[in-house]
Amino acid sequence: MKKLKTFFLETYGCQMNFSDSELVEGLLIRGGLTPASEAEEADLILVNTCGVREHAEQRVFGRLGLFKTYKEDSPHKLLAVIGCMAQRIGEQILEQAPWVDLVLGPDGYRKLPQLIEELTGENHSQLAALAFEVSETYEDLAPTRKNHLSAWVPISRGCDNFCSYCIVPYVRGRERSVNPDSVERQVREQVAGGALEIVLLGQNVNSYRYGDTDFAALLRRLDGIEGLRWIRFLTSHPRDLSDRIIEAMADCEKVCEHLHLPVQSGSDRVLGLMNRGYSRAFYLERVAALRERIPGLGLTTDILVGFPGESNGDFGETVSLMNEVQFDYAYTFKYSPRPGTVAARKKEELSEEEKSLRLDTVIQLQRSHTRQALHSLRGRVLEALPVQKAKSGEGILQGKTRSNFNIFLSAGESCLGRVVRARVSGNTGMNLLGELAEG
Ligand code: 5AD
Ligand code: SF4
Repeated sequence: MKKLKTFFLETYGCQMNFSDSELVEGLLIRGGLTPASEAEEADLILVNTCGVREHAEQRVFGRLGLFKTYKEDSPHKLLAVIGCMAQRIGEQILEQAPWVDLVLGPDGYRKLPQLIEELTGENHSQLAALAFEVSETYEDLAPTRKNHLSAWVPISRGCDNFCSYCIVPYVRGRERSVNPDSVERQVREQVAGGALEIVLLGQNVNSYRYGDTDFAALLRRLDGIEGLRWIRFLTSHPRDLSDRIIEAMADCEKVCEHLHLPVQSGSDRVLGLMNRGYSRAFYLERVAALRERIPGLGLTTDILVGFPGESNGDFGETVSLMNEVQFDYAYTFKYSPRPGTVAARKKEELSEEEKSLRLDTVIQLQRSHTRQALHSLRGRVLEALPVQKAKSGEGILQGKTRSNFNIFLSAGESCLGRVVRARVSGNTGMNLLGELAEG
């Protein structure tokens, strides 16, 4: 059997999945493999998958069809499906796509080098590694980083919320928090390597707890790290967004004025059916508390339309909540039944057309809110971090503001990778335009 030299890793899904891919890459590179620039050239192709909606899974099956043709041309190639979809339907993937060599769940990445070894032996058969490891946090494994200015640092894995529509607790297992000493060490390493921003990751960072350290305490601890400029985190759960966390956000100089706080629905009845653990009034009260304590907060959300049994009236409540809150941005989704979840057992009364109409409505509404939010910032001076030259023109840099808006900045290249003060001069539908502010 030819020895494997190169790999190609393709990733779908959320930031946590992209962060996992950095871990997997680190493992493979330390194992002596080098990254290939095209899947077609690689000895080992890995697809890190998402299972959150059916569409994401269908795309992966499409990719597997393409990779089959590569294997026909070079039979020594290996193909691995890893991540959430592998965990959910690994056995089914091996059966439906018999050219797949390995399915590997999110708790099994440590085994990858050993599994590859087995697969490169004589007469290997397909392998599945789908066991949960409830204490696995990978905190000792160094990831490779794509972006040196901004680094993801996972602070927890898994999820215990069991929202009735969501597959994540079934594919990522029980929630576990990373030791804060290890989080701090990783952040310091990243800062020493040039990172100005860190993004703390977890399915529900607000429920982080390790011994006496809760999320608020973790933020305060990381805020003291010299050289670090911005701290962000994803994702928050409204039920667990305590006053302590809001206070820490307000007090900590480095914690950005940005919060991603998925609401999903504006209807109490639907929120109950979703098992979200809060009411519309509770959510609105949290937003009011946040905005009072954190001026200039950029607030983003997730909206899920077409949940089984969502009536016209329920949907109207979501629209009215969006109008009331005026989110800066919303990721909008059409409900997709996930086998094994509680909601998937409910009869779907809404047609695909009706769900699509609702989705269109919230997309249009959010567009107008985003535009208004961007417009209202004209003339303001904001902190921004330009990270790359814009494709749109000479002398324009692209980056983010602390409040998480995209900004196109007229500035020289010497500003790349530096936190600067930018005066907002205008906007497009999705981005701010700006120039360097004096002083
Ligand atoms: N169908 C559609 N969207 C979903 N999400 C989670 N589960 C589903 C599903 N079954 C959305 C939620 C979540 C985001 C990451 O994905 O809005 O916040
Ligand atoms: Fe991320 Fe959830 Fe998709 Fe897994 S299923 S990749 S946790 S969004």
